Amino acid sequence: MRCQEIRLTTVPTAEVTAANFGVFESDAGEPAPGEVLVGVLRLGLNAGLAHRLGGEGTAYGPGVGVGDVPTSDAVVEVLDPGDSDLPTGSLAVGKVPWCSAGVVEAAELHPIETPAGEDELNAHLTILGHVGFTAWTGMIHLGEVRAGEVVYVSGAAGGVGSCAVQFAKATGATVIGVAGSAEKVTLLTEVLGADRAVNRHDGPAVDLLREAAPDGIDLYYDNVGGEQLEAALDVLRPGGRAIICGAVSGGTRSDAPANCRNLIHRELTLRGFTVTAHESLRGQFESEVGAWLQEGRVRSVHTMFDGIERVPEAFESLLSGGSSGRLIVSMASRPG
Ligand SMILES: NC(=O)c1ccc[n+]([C@@H]2O[C@H](COP(=O)([O-])OP(=O)(O)OC[C@H]3O[C@@H](n4cnc5c(N)ncnc54)[C@H](OP(=O)(O)O)[C@@H]3O)[C@@H](O)[C@H]2O)c1
Repeated sequence: MRCQEIRLTTVPTAEVTAANFGVFESDAGEPAPGEVLVGVLRLGLNAGLAHRLGGEGTAYGPGVGVGDVPTSDAVVEVLDPGDSDLPTGSLAVGKVPWCSAGVVEAAELHPIETPAGEDELNAHLTILGHVGFTAWTGMIHLGEVRAGEVVYVSGAAGGVGSCAVQFAKATGATVIGVAGSAEKVTLLTEVLGADRAVNRHDGPAVDLLREAAPDGIDLYYDNVGGEQLEAALDVLRPGGRAIICGAVSGGTRSDAPANCRNLIHRELTLRGFTVTAHESLRGQFESEVGAWLQEGRVRSVHTMFDGIERVPEAFESLLSGGSSGRLIVSMASRPG
C-alpha cells in the first residue's frame, strides 16, 4: 500500500522550521508477526520533539537524524490486524511514525471505542490522551491540588497547560494562567475557566504574578522553567509546592533558578516527573477525567491543521507559539 511520510531533511541550526522536513511517497509495508497495519486519522504534535532533532534521545524517544521519520501519538484505524486480535476497522491510540499509513507493534496500540463525534475523537489526543495524562499526573496525583488553593500554571494555553488549568478548576482551586498572547489570555478566562490570566509579554513575570496573586500561590505547575519558575519561587507561600513538568523556555539548556535559596527559607518543595514512569495510573486517569468530560466540566482544546503535507508547517507553528491547546493534524475522516 502506498503512503506518504514526513522525514527530517536537514538538522536545524537555530529555530526549527517547516523547511527542515519533507513529504515523501513510500510503501506502508506488510505486518510481520506482532505487527498491525494502520491508517492514521489524527496525529498529535509535541514541542518536546524539537530537542531530539539531530540530537540525543530522551525518555520520550530516540534522537531523530536526517532521513528519519519522527513519531507522535495518534488516533489510528486498523487496516490489517496481522496476527493480532484487533478487528479491522477498529480504532486505537498509540505512538506512530509521521505517515498516512504504516506498520506498528500491536502491543503499542491502546484500543478505543468508536467515538460519537469529532470532539470525542480529538479528545483522545488532548484531555483523554498523552497531554491530559501528563497534566493529571502532575496536577492531581503528584501536585495533590486541593479545593481553595491558589494555583499558577505556565504555558497555560498549550497542550499540557490547557488540561492542567481545567483539572485544577475541576478540583475547586483558584487558577491563574500565563500565556503568550491576548487571544490565549481570553481563551484561558472565557473558555477554560481560569480565574485570572496574564500575557507574559506584558512585563517581568514576577511583577505580573504578584499583581495576579497578591496573597501568594500554593502550587505552581511549571511547563516552561526559566523566568516563570523564578517568579513562582518568589511568590509561593511558605510550604508551597512546584511541579516541574517541562522547560521549553530554556531551549536545549535549562538553567537553575537564581532564587533556589527560597526552597530553604520558605520550605518549598520542587517535584519533577516523567509521565511514562506513572503508566500504571492511566486507568484511574481515564475514569476520572472521562467522567469530568461527560459532565462537561472539562473539554478538548486543540488547534487543527488538515492534511499530512501540512505537518511541517503545523510543527513550526507549535514551536512559535501560534497554536492554542494541543496541535492536531487531521489526516483523514474517521470511518463510518
Ligand atoms: N514531564 C513529562 O512527562 C512531560 C510530558 C509531556 C510534555 N512535557 C513537557 O511539558 C511542556 C508542555 O508541553 P506541551 O505539549 O503543552 O507544549 P506546548 O503545547 O508547545 O505548550 C508549551 C507552551 O510554552 C509556552 N512557551 C514557549 N516558549 C516559551 C518561553 N520562552 N517562555 C515561556 N513560555 C513559553 C508557549 O505558550 P505561550 O507562548 O502562550 O506562552 C507554549 O504554548 C513541554 O516542556 C514538554 O516538553 C513533559
